[in-house]
Amino acid sequence: MQIYLDTAKVEEIREFAWLIDGVTTNPTLVAQAGRPFREVLREICALVRGPVSAEVISLDAEGMVREAQELARIADNIVIKIPLTPEGLKAVQRLKALGIKTNVTLVFSAPQALLAAKCGADYVSPFVGRIDDHGGDGMGVVAEILQIFRNYSFPTQVIVASVRHPGHVVAAATLGAPIVTMPYAVLQRLFHHPLTEQGIARFLKDWEKVPR
Ligand code: G3P
Repeated sequence: MQIYLDTAKVEEIREFAWLIDGVTTNPTLVAQAGRPFREVLREICALVRGPVSAEVISLDAEGMVREAQELARIADNIVIKIPLTPEGLKAVQRLKALGIKTNVTLVFSAPQALLAAKCGADYVSPFVGRIDDHGGDGMGVVAEILQIFRNYSFPTQVIVASVRHPGHVVAAATLGAPIVTMPYAVLQRLFHHPLTEQGIARFLKDWEKVPR
């Protein structure tokens, strides 16, 4: 399973650049980083060799394609995040013809993912946390999408997004989802277990008793 960081904060990416396979950003995350979008993207792409998703703001296909072409010039590993709308999927088709990779975002259902795959999206991002927040079953939606993609051998890859806790990561891995993107705080939590920390403390204490 590939691990992406869901952040636009360069310092968070730098800390885990040795581990992660890619990065996803969105307008909210870029606003939280508090720095100019293109400058941040350039720095992220220099740190990470894998895919770096950058989202368009336009709502019409023509505007999305224009923005995507401009963003794609920043680095070879830029993937364009496109919202799941009819205009978005028209843009996905055109960007595919231009050889620009797309990540269809704001996916909340299996039929939406099916449409994105049919239009040639390279990635789809189901938002499991937001689905759960609305009383749905985010991982159930991921399971449906994975099955549909398998049934038709769609090459589109699923990025499990809107991840809130390590349980989401485990559930995604259990389903065999190829990619999970997670916030810095969740990635940090994957490392920790109280028994690991207690175990280290105890070993160090016992080590003091070893004759030197
Ligand atoms: O990057 C998209 C997605 O991961 C957003 O997550 O926590 O804002 O629902 P969240």
